Amino acid sequence: MKIDTLALPDSAIDFLKSQGYEKLYPPQSDSVKFGLLNGKSILVSAPTASGKTLIAMLAMLSYLSKNKGKIVYLSPLRALAAEKFTEFKKLEKISIGNKIKTSISTGDFEHIEKNLESSNILILTNEKMDSIIRHGAEWIEEIGLVISDEVHLIGDEGRGPTLEMILTHLKLLDTKPQIVGLSATITNSDEIAKWLDCKLVKNDWRPVPLSEGVCDGGQVTMSDGKTFEVKPSLRGIPIDLGVQCVQEGGQSLVFAATRVSSKSLATKASDIISQFLQKKELSALEKTSKQILAENEHTEIVKTLATLIKKGVAFHHAGLNQKCREIVEKEFRKGTIKLLSSTPTLAAGVNLPARRVVISNINRYNAKIGANRPISILEYKQLCGRAGRPQYDDYGESIIVGNGNTEDLTEYYIHGEPEPIVSKITEDKSLRTHILSVIVINPGIKKEEILEFFLQTLGGLQSSKATLSFAINISLRFLSSQQLIIKKGDRYAGTAFGKKTSMLYIDPLTATYFRDAIDNVSDQRKHTFGFLHLMINCEEFFPKFSLRNKDYESTSLMIENHSTELIEPISEYDCSRSLLALQMWITESTELSLSDTLGIEAGDMHRMVENANWLSYCLREIAKHIERPDLLEEFNDLRKRVVYGIREELLDLVRVKGIGRVRARVLFKHNIKNLDDLEKIPTHKLGEIDKIGSTVANNIKAELKKVRY
Ligand SMILES: Nc1ncnc2c1ncn2[C@@H]1O[C@H](COP(=O)(O)OP(=O)(O)OP(=O)(O)O)[C@@H](O)[C@H]1O
Ligand SMILES: [Mg+2]
Repeated sequence: MKIDTLALPDSAIDFLKSQGYEKLYPPQSDSVKFGLLNGKSILVSAPTASGKTLIAMLAMLSYLSKNKGKIVYLSPLRALAAEKFTEFKKLEKISIGNKIKTSISTGDFEHIEKNLESSNILILTNEKMDSIIRHGAEWIEEIGLVISDEVHLIGDEGRGPTLEMILTHLKLLDTKPQIVGLSATITNSDEIAKWLDCKLVKNDWRPVPLSEGVCDGGQVTMSDGKTFEVKPSLRGIPIDLGVQCVQEGGQSLVFAATRVSSKSLATKASDIISQFLQKKELSALEKTSKQILAENEHTEIVKTLATLIKKGVAFHHAGLNQKCREIVEKEFRKGTIKLLSSTPTLAAGVNLPARRVVISNINRYNAKIGANRPISILEYKQLCGRAGRPQYDDYGESIIVGNGNTEDLTEYYIHGEPEPIVSKITEDKSLRTHILSVIVINPGIKKEEILEFFLQTLGGLQSSKATLSFAINISLRFLSSQQLIIKKGDRYAGTAFGKKTSMLYIDPLTATYFRDAIDNVSDQRKHTFGFLHLMINCEEFFPKFSLRNKDYESTSLMIENHSTELIEPISEYDCSRSLLALQMWITESTELSLSDTLGIEAGDMHRMVENANWLSYCLREIAKHIERPDLLEEFNDLRKRVVYGIREELLDLVRVKGIGRVRARVLFKHNIKNLDDLEKIPTHKLGEIDKIGSTVANNIKAELKKVRY
């Protein structure tokens, strides 16, 4: 099917052609045949790289050419949302009747940004959408098209239930929006389609052939019968495979089981890969390496990354900060980085020029059971799918590194069918959280109606009515006993505390844990360390790093030093490295010392800060709710200290935009300790101070006026 023939306005067709699209891929034309452009709901279950994003885009263009409502594009991952935002932002150029305005929102569950109201394409994470539903934004009723990307993640234990809930809410809207679900190949796609009331487009076509194989002791056996050898070296088979592909002119993506191995694999590849680089490439890489060193603190991983990049290799994992990850992705896309070794951070949805994917280890550490477990077939297929992407390569290969088990691996992973998607909504945590939100959104709801709602979820389709009813009863009892809901006759409503909890977007168990703890707090002293401990101890806090043997002594010392700040007595066995890290962060430890002393990297610290920022806001709101105004200032201060990573004495200075933890400390050392001091010092003198300079000094003075007057 040609793009020209689509029932879309000319401006949309011209745009698509300008992006290089000429003909539709089979899953795309099937979707159109099934009514994608006529508002029909569609579930696409198709292989990686089969062009599911364009299906979303076609639905968007058709919708916008006929309707005034809103489109939401839902992504499970922030990084993917950001990639799609860049892609969908380009649609704004098209004049299609309604002016197209694209916005993205992926964090911040406290409030709904104003710009979302005035946009018609909203790119949201699943969690943000959930929070918007709980806040009851009026424009929800204007949603006319819902696109849910990577919808197979509904079966994910951690985040699946949220996706399931929002899709249930959205499909039940009075406006009956068109739903476009984009899924990897899954076994029970017909069941998911039935649940979402969608037509199913199931297609096994892939634009670029992807062959899968296993390597054992240097012998590679591909599923299409092809065999070849790789000469084993001391670098190890995963790298030998990666290097072989680079030697043949391709780029390799090597998946590692852990962060440590992603770094060591890249290191092993570096010397040999550097031999294949041309002068021009070497000088570009040298520049990138310098940029990394100039823009980041010189922690061990930053230094290693900078050294490796010079040689045309890199690693990628969640310990790296956002900036470094972006640089690595960009350089790999440009082709200057030839071999990239990554944890599964790069597994889903992204488009990368990897001709060969090497899966160095099929096991992953599972924190819940405390042991290694083989990955699922669905996850395996996602990893493979990063190889052979249409705009970069005309074929792709994926090779698992085996160990005397080629046949088993081939049978299980390569010929295996991905696992069916099973709802996790009936698990305790998700059920209590989501029942509370249903009651808050629908005050006066009856038990039968709650059951009715949950029968509309995928879990409702997959489990018996009796099981669901039993599980709902348990949650209702818990919510009542904790005064999150009240029952009048046979109707339920959220209490003020229940409403607050639902809006704050936290587990009811955490809310009650916070409430009970705050209730016991004395009004006589500070509780900074105690509050940090509370936050890190709750279910929601992540990432949590356990103590290593060598950390026990320093932890016990830290508890002793802060004993007066505790809310309840704790021992080092109640602590984690995350607690030590956050305490060090708010006393101005550098990224370097956090990495050296605790092994906590910048990327981890950033996520902890983000999480603690939100949880300290929750603590404050709960304190307000249970009438502890005496604690509000302390929570405000704590929150700022967490966000900026500063001691208390710098709180006044960071009120001025442009002054962060580093500049505030420099100013403080120069005896500028508060806004009065800042006002008194002449601008030229301010500019003479190290790390300030005249431009910044002028800006600071201007911003100071805004704070003061
Ligand atoms: N009709 C088309 N003609 C040419 N190129 C296309 C077409 N449709 C999609 N592509 C290109 O194919 C690539 C892969 O598409 P996309 O990212 O949508 O895959 P996907 O199906 O979402 O895969 P994944 O499951 O890995 O997320 C993109 O670079 C896209 O530009
Ligand atoms: Mg995709």
